[in-house]
Amino acid sequence: MDYFDLTKIRVSTRKFTDEQITDYQLAAILEAGERAPIGSSRYANLKLTVVQNKDVLHQLSEAARIRHTDLAEMAEIIANVSNRDELLDAARDFDPFYGAPTVIFVSHRKQDLEPGIEFANVSCVVNYMQLAALNLGLGSCFMWYVLDSMRRLPEYDHTELLDLPEDFEPLLGLAVGYPPEPLSEREIDPERIGINYIK
Ligand SMILES: Cc1cc2nc3c(=O)[nH]c(=O)nc-3n(C[C@H](O)[C@H](O)[C@H](O)COP(=O)(O)O)c2cc1C
Repeated sequence: MDYFDLTKIRVSTRKFTDEQITDYQLAAILEAGERAPIGSSRYANLKLTVVQNKDVLHQLSEAARIRHTDLAEMAEIIANVSNRDELLDAARDFDPFYGAPTVIFVSHRKQDLEPGIEFANVSCVVNYMQLAALNLGLGSCFMWYVLDSMRRLPEYDHTELLDLPEDFEPLLGLAVGYPPEPLSEREIDPERIGINYIK
C-alpha cells in the first residue's frame, strides 16, 4: 500500500480475533523492525522477543491486571458505584494485550552513555513494525502499560520469562493480530499534534 494511504488507516487496534498471524507475516514485520534507524547505529543494544504463548502473555500481564483492579477500586471509592462487583470483575479480567495472538517485545541494553535514547530507539523499531503489520492487513497496538506496570509493581515482574540477557530490559512492545473488521481510512484532527513554523 502507498505509504500515505497506510498512515491514514493506522490506528491502535484493541480487539483481535483468535487467528494467529502467519510465519511469513511475522518474518516481514521483524524484517521491517530490523530496518529501523537506531541512534549511533548501536543495533547490538536492542533485542526483539516474539511471544506467541498465551500462558506466558497471561503471566506477563499480571502486574497490569493488579494495577487495573487498584484503579477500579480507587474509582469505586470516589464514585461509590452500585455495580461494584461487576466493575472489579471486569478490571480483574483486563487483558493489556487485548487478546493479540502475537506480541513482539523490544528490549534495550541498560546504558547511561546517551540518556533517554533507549526509548527513542525502541519507538523507532515498534513504529516500523506497526506500519509493516498494517501493510499486511493486520491490526496492532503499542504496548507500554504492561511493561510499565511490571516496573511499578516489581513483585509481579515476570520479565524473566522473556529470557533476556541480564543487562537488557523490555521497554516497549507491539501486539499484533487480525482486527475483527478490516481497517479503513479515518478522519483525524489534522493538527492533533500542534505545529509551529519558524520561517
Ligand atoms: C509509546 C506508546 C505507548 C503506547 N502504549 C499503549 C499501551 O500500553 N496500551 C494501549 O492500549 N495503547 C498504547 N499506545 C497507543 C496510544 O494510546 C495511541 O497511539 C493513541 O491513543 C492514539 O490513538 P491511535 O493510535 O489509534 O491513533 C501507545 C502508544 C505509544 C506511541
